[in-house]
Amino acid sequence: MAERFIRIAVLYLSVGVCLGLYMGISQNFTLATVHVHVLLAGWLSLAMAGVIYRLYPDASTTRLEQAHFWLHNLGLPAFMLGLGMMLTGHDLPVLLPAGATVAMLGFLCFALNAWRRIKA
Ligand code: HEM
Ligand code: HEM
Repeated sequence: MAERFIRIAVLYLSVGVCLGLYMGISQNFTLATVHVHVLLAGWLSLAMAGVIYRLYPDASTTRLEQAHFWLHNLGLPAFMLGLGMMLTGHDLPVLLPAGATVAMLGFLCFALNAWRRIKA
C-alpha cells in the first residue's frame, strides 16, 4: 500500500510543478494557493505517508490507512478544483468546503493511524 501513496504523490508533483511553471511564465499568480496545496498536501504529504507506511509496516494495511488513501485522494482533487474555480471567479458553492472537509478527514485518519500503530 505504501507504493500506492508514492505513485499517486508523483502525480500531484507533476501537476503542481506544471502549474508552477505556468504561473511563472504567465506571471499570473491567481492559482498560487492551488499550486501550494497540490504540492504540499498532495506531493509532500502523500510521499511522506508512503515512506512512513513503509518504515512502520504495523501502520500499513489497516482500515484507517485505506480510509486515509481514499479520503485524501477524493477530497484533495475536489478541494483543488473548488479552490481553482473560486479563485478564478467561477464559484461552485459546495465543492470547496466538501472537498476540504473530506481531505481533512483523510489527514485525521492518517494521524490516528500513526498514533495508534507507531509505538515509542
Ligand atoms: C518547477 C517547479 C516549480 C515552479 C516553476 C514553481 C513556481 C512557483 C511560482 C511562480 C510561485 C508563485 C510565487 C509568487 O507568488 O510570487 C510559487 C509559489 C510557491 N511554490 Fe512553487 N514552483 C515549483 C515547485 C514547487 C515545489 C516542488 C514546491 C513544494 C514542494 C513549491 C512550493 C511553493 C510554495 C509553498 C509557494 C508559495 C510561496 C509563497 O506564498 O510565498 N513549489 N511557485
Ligand atoms: C485539508 C487540508 C487543508 C486545508 C483545508 C487548507 C486550507 C488552507 C487555507 C484556507 C489557506 C489560506 C489560503 C489563502 O490565504 O488564500 C491555506 C494556506 C496555506 N496552506 Fe493549507 N490547507 C490544508 C492543508 C495544508 C497542508 C497539509 C499544508 C502543508 C503541508 C498546507 C500549507 C499551506 C501553506 C504553505 C499556505 C499558505 C499559502 C500561500 O501563501 O499561498 N496546507 N491553507
